[in-house]
Amino acid sequence: MADYKRVAEIYSDGIAERIATFETKLRGWDDIQLLVESDPIFLVSYNDVDFVTGFVRVSPTSSRRVYAGVGEISVYVDPNHRGQGIGKQLINHCHTTAGEQGFWKLIAKIFPENESSLELFRSTGYRDVGIHEKHGQLDSQWRDVCLLEVLLHTEE
Ligand SMILES: CC(C)(COP(=O)(O)OP(=O)(O)OC[C@H]1O[C@@H](n2cnc3c(N)ncnc32)[C@H](O)[C@@H]1OP(=O)(O)O)[C@@H](O)C(=O)NCCC(=O)NCCS
Repeated sequence: MADYKRVAEIYSDGIAERIATFETKLRGWDDIQLLVESDPIFLVSYNDVDFVTGFVRVSPTSSRRVYAGVGEISVYVDPNHRGQGIGKQLINHCHTTAGEQGFWKLIAKIFPENESSLELFRSTGYRDVGIHEKHGQLDSQWRDVCLLEVLLHTEE
């Protein structure tokens, strides 16, 4: 439960920054427990004193069976631990796990203003697919969303 509380804090920091997600409700440990139980992949990073520094999750993109291997990835790193390679490590670890679980593609949806996140995903193999215009509202303002994707089984 201590880990869930830390994950909730990191997620809530990202929500409060208003650059990472359309979500606006800050999360508690019980919200995180539900995500951990329902997401196909939920991985947490720790520092050398077992302090939670970030997390990555994959959620399904569709209930249709033909898209079962396409997941949506999102990653959050504690503001005090950014710029240390943790985000990149989480994504690379997630790709290994996702491949083992049968995912063939991950997509990421990123606000155009979220330059650090766009660069992070590009640096881990994602390509820009395009921009969804006015994809949703955040604080009553329409926001565009960049769609990126990576193929996990490029040899086939
Ligand atoms: C985006 C985020 C996950 C990056 O995590 P991080 O641990 O700081 O990233 P890393 O240290 O692993 O950086 C890896 C690469 O990302 C890019 N990057 C990271 N921070 C950057 C910044 N501030 N500006 C530009 N590029 C940046 C760089 O390409 C970097 O590679 P380099 O260090 O070799 O130049 C972190 O800033 C965060 O949690 N943001 C809030 C949540 C969010 O926006 N998540 C994305 C939506 S799901």
